[in-house]
Amino acid sequence: MTAHSPTAPVSAIRGRLLSFNRTPNGPGDHGCYRYIEDGLLRIERGRIAAVGAAADLLPGLPPGTPIDHYPDSLILPGFIDTHIHFPQTQVIASFGAQLLDWLEKYTFVEEQKFADPGHAARNASFFLDELLRNGTTTAVVYGSVHPQSIEALFAESVRRGTAMIAGKSMMDRNAPPALTDTAASSYDETKALIERWHGKERQRAAVTVRFAITSTEAQLERAGALLNEYPDVYLQTHLSENRAEIAEVRRLFPTAKHYTDVYDRFGLLGPRSLFGHCIHLSEPEIQRLSDTGSVAVFCPTSNLFIGSGLFDWARLTDLRRPVRLGLATDVGGGTSYSMLRTAAEAYKILQLQNQTLSALTAFHQATRGNAAALGMEGDIGSLAPGRYADLVVLDPLATPAMRHRMETVEGDLEEELFVLMTLGDDRAVRSTYIQGKLQHRRAEAS
Ligand code: GUN
Ligand code: ZN
Repeated sequence: MTAHSPTAPVSAIRGRLLSFNRTPNGPGDHGCYRYIEDGLLRIERGRIAAVGAAADLLPGLPPGTPIDHYPDSLILPGFIDTHIHFPQTQVIASFGAQLLDWLEKYTFVEEQKFADPGHAARNASFFLDELLRNGTTTAVVYGSVHPQSIEALFAESVRRGTAMIAGKSMMDRNAPPALTDTAASSYDETKALIERWHGKERQRAAVTVRFAITSTEAQLERAGALLNEYPDVYLQTHLSENRAEIAEVRRLFPTAKHYTDVYDRFGLLGPRSLFGHCIHLSEPEIQRLSDTGSVAVFCPTSNLFIGSGLFDWARLTDLRRPVRLGLATDVGGGTSYSMLRTAAEAYKILQLQNQTLSALTAFHQATRGNAAALGMEGDIGSLAPGRYADLVVLDPLATPAMRHRMETVEGDLEEELFVLMTLGDDRAVRSTYIQGKLQHRRAEAS
């Protein structure tokens, strides 16, 4: 394999191409994807210019076109993580607490360090390295309350050519003084971030209300005002994650119909609104999320680790009032940056409810499904002409246990994907490309 020159006007990547063209119906739905055993992506100016069989596309490449060839690996659109906390890279793996105690004991302590732009810059670099090592090429990211945390993240993302959707956390109560803003300052700081970064190359802004407990009504009103002023900006927050949290929201907002209504009253629901967790929702809340086209984001490793509960995929996607879904790591409540590990834990959460998550559904969700949740399916999430060449190259034989298990797979792609998600992690990510440029290559054993 030769790493291609990033300056070549045309480059190519060859291997086993897999891309989804619609939501799978379940196991065995072979019409939802396109798989090309010996495929080739022709890449021009950071985007996919052509996709097809290598035999068909090779003859049309200009002489000397650099080709990265991965004969045994699966090449997919890069993974998309729809909910992750950038200031929690040193909170991950904190012992023994459920949500509200976990926030107070670990998270609010660590997040205070992001007042320091140097700390934010060092962590931004680590964070993006880690995403790329795991094959994640786009993420929806919470910063700390400090706008400088998001400045650092966006600056680093521009350097790497990645697409990040991010915002500084708005939180004006029920947190340490060093971590609180005000309704007015959170509006001003978020507005300044939007003006500076939203639409700058591939960066996008998200109005980031941490959750109802840490916002006053005045702040929620300001968040709604920002969404009115900037209709193409995203909103992200947490919703119905933990029972004690829900009880506290009821106490803080006694006139709200339910938790979802706290956000709804201020105009925070809609097709660009992402709600992390959505575990303990009542029927009227699900109806409202469905009616507004809002997105419920499933964070399996976090839900297990913080002991929050079981996300009811079947109930939320019920065709009578379906809610759009995202899948995410939620590091550092989540325990892995890997969307493969995330898919594996999602499968187990569904198993506990007598539901199944097919490998096709899992890989679809981590790519095209999450792109659709962000309204970005025209740019990312599939291997098709015009999409950015953000790619993950997966090695199904990455570990001895995977190699051993794969001996029995015998050419069944769906089974291969299931083994890959059940046993795989960052070791299975051979390479990651951003806009056709190699940004991560796994160190090979010598
Ligand atoms: N609810 C409010 N803040 C957080 C957070 O940082 N992580 C999780 N999992 N839930 C939250
Ligand atoms: Zn979260």
